[in-house]
This record gives sequence, C-alpha cells and structure tokens, in this order.
Amino acid sequence: MNAVVIYYLSGNQSNFLHLFSFPLISDTSAIPVRQLCRFCDLRATNCPGRGVCKVECDITAICPEYNEVCVSIWRKKDDNITFETVCHDPALPLYGLYLDDYNNTKCVMKEKKAKDSKFFICSCSNEEECNDHIIFNLNEHTASESELVGPVILVSLVPLLVIAIFVITSFYCYRVCNQQPNPRKKGKPLDNTDKHPIIDPEGSDSSSTHANNLNHNTELLPIELDVLVGKGRFAEVYKAKLKQGSSVREEHGFETVAVKIFQFEEYASWKNEKDIFSDADLRHENVLHFLTAEERKGQRQYWLITAYHPLGNLQEFLTNHIISWQDLWLLGSSLARVVAHLHSDRTSCGRCKVPIAHRDIKSSNILVKKDMTCCLCDFGLALRLDNSLSVDELANSGQVGTARYMAPEVLESRINLENIESFKQADVYSMALVLWEIISRCSAIGEVKEYKPPFGNLREHPCVESMKDSVLRDRGRPEIPNSWTSHAGIQMVCGSIEECWDHDPEARLTAHCIAERFDDVEYLDKLSDCSDSEEKMLEEIIVVNEK
Ligand code: ADE
Repeated sequence: MNAVVIYYLSGNQSNFLHLFSFPLISDTSAIPVRQLCRFCDLRATNCPGRGVCKVECDITAICPEYNEVCVSIWRKKDDNITFETVCHDPALPLYGLYLDDYNNTKCVMKEKKAKDSKFFICSCSNEEECNDHIIFNLNEHTASESELVGPVILVSLVPLLVIAIFVITSFYCYRVCNQQPNPRKKGKPLDNTDKHPIIDPEGSDSSSTHANNLNHNTELLPIELDVLVGKGRFAEVYKAKLKQGSSVREEHGFETVAVKIFQFEEYASWKNEKDIFSDADLRHENVLHFLTAEERKGQRQYWLITAYHPLGNLQEFLTNHIISWQDLWLLGSSLARVVAHLHSDRTSCGRCKVPIAHRDIKSSNILVKKDMTCCLCDFGLALRLDNSLSVDELANSGQVGTARYMAPEVLESRINLENIESFKQADVYSMALVLWEIISRCSAIGEVKEYKPPFGNLREHPCVESMKDSVLRDRGRPEIPNSWTSHAGIQMVCGSIEECWDHDPEARLTAHCIAERFDDVEYLDKLSDCSDSEEKMLEEIIVVNEK
C-alpha cells in the first residue's frame, strides 16, 4: 500500500504549515486516532458571521498530537473577514483563551471579547473535519427569525387595519350625515345589571317623535317601574321613572316614561313593534315617541320604552270626560292625519317611505296628549306594506286586530292580500268607529250619553263570530242619531264616517281625505265664529244707538 501524503498543522501557535508524510495504517483500532481537521490557517471569507458557513478551505490534516482538536476562528476587522482553521491542544490557551467546547462533534461559534474586531471561536473533536462547517449561535439565528415575526404580522395586519379604518370612517360619516346624535354618548355610565339594549333613541331634534337606530351599546336605561297603566294582549304598560344620571333623560327631558313589558313568549310582538318603531319615517307628532327597546334576559322580558302620556288612552278619557267641538276637532283631525301619515308613501318632506298599516286601530290604542291631540300607539300588529312582504307575512295577515273594530272583509278573511290598499281600507274602517266614539262624547251633539264602545250592545270582548253577525249579516253599524247632525262640523264628520265604514272597502274614503275635510271644517267653524262675534258687535252697536 502506498503512503498518503497529507498536510498537518503544527500544534503550537506558529501558524507554519509543515509537509509531512507517513505510512498508511491499515488497523487504526489498536492505536489512538489523531484528529482529522480542516486547517487552512488564515483565509479571507465571505461568511457573514450568521447561520451556518462552510469553511472555504480545501486542506485537511491529521493533527500532529493525539490530544489536539479542530478549531475554527472567525474574525471581522473593518471590512476584512477571515477564517482561521487550526489544530490545538485544549490544555493550552489559544489567543489567551481556553477552549471549553472541544468535546462537541460540531463547531458551534461563540463570540469572545476582542480588541478592535469581532471574534468568534469554536472547537470540536470526535468527528472528522468537524470544523468544516461552522455554526453561528443557534439562538441568535432563531432570534433573528423571531425578529422577523413582528414585521411579518404587522405587514399582514395592514390590509385588515385599512379595512377597519374604512368601515369606522364610513359609519362615522353616515352618523354625522344623518345628524342623529346618540343620546347615550354623554353622561355617566348606566347602572343596570341586566345589559342587552337593542335600539337607541335617535331623534334628530327634541320635538321628533322617534328614536330609531340600532344601538350597539351594552347599557340599559336606569329605570324604576311605577304603576301599571295598561294591559294588552301581549304586554303590560307601566309608568316608570328614568333615574338621575341618565343621558336620555338629560337629552330628551324625559323624567317619566312608559315601559311596555313583553314576557319572553311574546318576543314576536315585541320584535315587530320594535322594528316598526325603528323606521325613522314613522316619526310624527301623533305617533308615540319611542325611546328604546331592551332585551332584559335576566328577567326573561322584552321592553319598549316610550314617552308617557298622563291623560291615558282615548277610551278611558272619553269614559271620564265630555269634550267640546274643539276637542273633537283636535282629536279627530290628528287621528286622520296620523293614519294618513302611516299610509302614505311619502314623508312630509316628499321623500319616499314605506306605507304602514296599523291593523289594530281602536280607542284603547290611542293616547290623549295634553294638547288634546291623538297619539297612536301599539304597533305590535303593524305591517310594513313594502314590496318585500313575504308569502308568510301575507298569509298571516288575513285576520288580525280586535274583533270589535274589524272591517267586514277582515272578519270574513276576504281581504285582498294582493293589493296593499286593502290594508289601508281596513284601517280606515276602524278609524271611523273611533271617530264615532269621539263624537258620542261631544257636548255639541246635544244630550251626551255615557261612554259606550261601538257595538256596545255586545259583550265586553265580542268574538269574531258575533261581530260577523252584526257587521256582515245584519250590515249593522253604530247609530248616528239625527241630533248629531245639527252641528255643521259634526255633520261633516258623520258624513265622512259613513263613507269610511262602507261595506265595500274600495268605496271608503282615505285617511288623507278625512284629514283634509277636517281642515275645511276648521275653516268653516272659524267663519261662523267670526260671524257670531260680528253679529254680537252689530247688536251692541244697535243697542248703543237706540239709547
Ligand atoms: N298606556 C299605554 N301606553 C301609555 C303611555 N305611553 N302613556 C300613558 N299610558 C299608556
């Protein structure tokens, strides 16, 4: 066998290369093996001092001494980077340092203190040419990767942030453009425990009737319930107090409110009324002022919070009061106006709106305001007459309301569901009965009897079948005595009522038409007032002259 010529590096620090030749040993297990290392002494390198670098050295040598190990040194001084590969006895210092990692099988660099340069050193043994690849601090490597994580996350979040800013800005602009201040923006935090409000009152001015935007606030109004003031099919109404510190109270000036409480099972009715109130176009001085809707899950209740009207509902009011022609005019014309507003497809500003049918017009669903005008409430059965009415909604809309006030076609369940006008015509029929009730308690008709509801001869809550007998079979309507027509204004109202409760829905007048007729009688009434006083003045002048 031929001897192999290899290079070796001297064990001392002379950095001299020596050529040495020796015979190849065929059985190495018998004698200790000297370390085989890379040993290019000093070389320039491109290794950046990060990650893993292969030593650019093509010389391999067996270390001259048995106890020597492979060493690699990386230095950077100014722009010069060098690698040094040597064999070294770890018992001896190298550049004033003792090697502490020579038992490693890989050469893992450690930074050491050095004057004027960056200095990394590693040593290894037990593997051939173990200083061939050198590994810079693994942790440092990982750290640099983790350093990248932040920027990567940031970069990937940028589009999300841009979208979020866009959405928030658009929402803000929408709110500002609609000039709908959030009454809960100001003021102290509200103090209820049961927190799940659904809608916020958002009247655009203090006289507006409604508050209609969705509320994403989590606060409930601080409310103290007082006495029960009304009880309906689906809910009870309480007089209640808005406590100190409520921003709604401060902003809207409400101290006393009405709270309509629906039990959990009546969710559908609450939801419908809340949704109807949420339509900003419903706002009208004669529609109950809506403040907010709340889901009070803890109490298994749903609430609607509205303005409170101390005069109560029209039925109670007429039971307890005889009214003047002026009151009749105020109540009757405001009722016709509010129903016309509901039915209209235009707002008072001429903007398009969805017409609404109330479907439960009756004197107990009308509150009396202090100015003696009507305030329509209870929209639990109301129906938005838009083109998006579903088949289900239509199918369920055949017969709803209170039997006593149901139009003949509703009693028969023969309402024309394909024509939205049918729903308005049924409302007009019910409104006519309310107008009749109002006249029945007006001093201008002569003798005023005690309050009786329309079809008052029937029991308290007549069923649909008995109403059918009266209204369909007998074509019965409440009586209009002759004495009622002695007053010109009331004569007009009575004539209109008869046209509004016509058996044929198509023949009925519209609410708008009734409102206009009221406007006309006001004019006539003022004329007659005027001629009365002129007559009086004339009489006085005559008397004075005669004297
Ligand atoms: N009964 C029903 N609703 C009412 C209200 N808002 N104010 C007074 N009484 C009522």
